[in-house]
Amino acid sequence: MTDMHEGATPKRPKLHPVRMQKTPAHLNGAAELEKLCFSSPWSASSLELLTNDGIGVGYLLTIPAAPGSEPFVAAYGGMLITVDEGQITNIAVHPDHRRKGYGAAITRALLRHAKDAKLESVSLEVRVSNTAAIELYKKAGFAEAGRRKGFYAKPTEDALVMVCKIK
Ligand SMILES: CC(C)(COP(=O)(O)OP(=O)(O)OC[C@H]1O[C@@H](n2cnc3c(N)ncnc32)[C@H](O)[C@@H]1OP(=O)(O)O)[C@@H](O)C(=O)NCCC(=O)NCCS
Repeated sequence: MTDMHEGATPKRPKLHPVRMQKTPAHLNGAAELEKLCFSSPWSASSLELLTNDGIGVGYLLTIPAAPGSEPFVAAYGGMLITVDEGQITNIAVHPDHRRKGYGAAITRALLRHAKDAKLESVSLEVRVSNTAAIELYKKAGFAEAGRRKGFYAKPTEDALVMVCKIK
């Protein structure tokens, strides 16, 4: 017997992304996700930019690993900050852990950070073919704001620009 009525969507457990720290576990974990997800990945040393207050911020979700080893970084996202605007750099979820709400939780954490920092808007670029990410961002409150022709390499592709106004 469950407390759900028939046809109800099962509730996902609440996820609590943490701030990315300048530690090997966080930086290397996020860099591993970059390598798995992107053709031009950020390195661990470039990800350090996201741990410098006032310049950037990162959030990640870790899950328990084998006893005695470091928790495993399953999802991460970063945002650069310029005056009153945020720009999401990337959001990456390990391929074995997609469709569990991790990407949405990271996006919410970045938008909450933007609100707390009194930013006016958050923008991002995404490959026009990346339906999963575009759907994720629309659900989080982003709207299409333009297109940048040939923005991406490996392979060459246009970027969709999306913006979320922070209220
Ligand atoms: C895009 C990405 C971050 C989504 O992460 P995720 O944890 O799987 O997404 P979530 O489970 O939080 O999904 C949130 C919503 O996004 C949308 N979505 C996610 N994956 C989708 C897919 N494959 N197809 C269509 N919609 C999708 C859905 O609306 C989903 O809500 P629902 O599960 O209630 O239907 C993940 O697929 C990924 O890491 N991709 C490779 C890296 C990448 O492209 N990052 C974005 C670069 S800008």
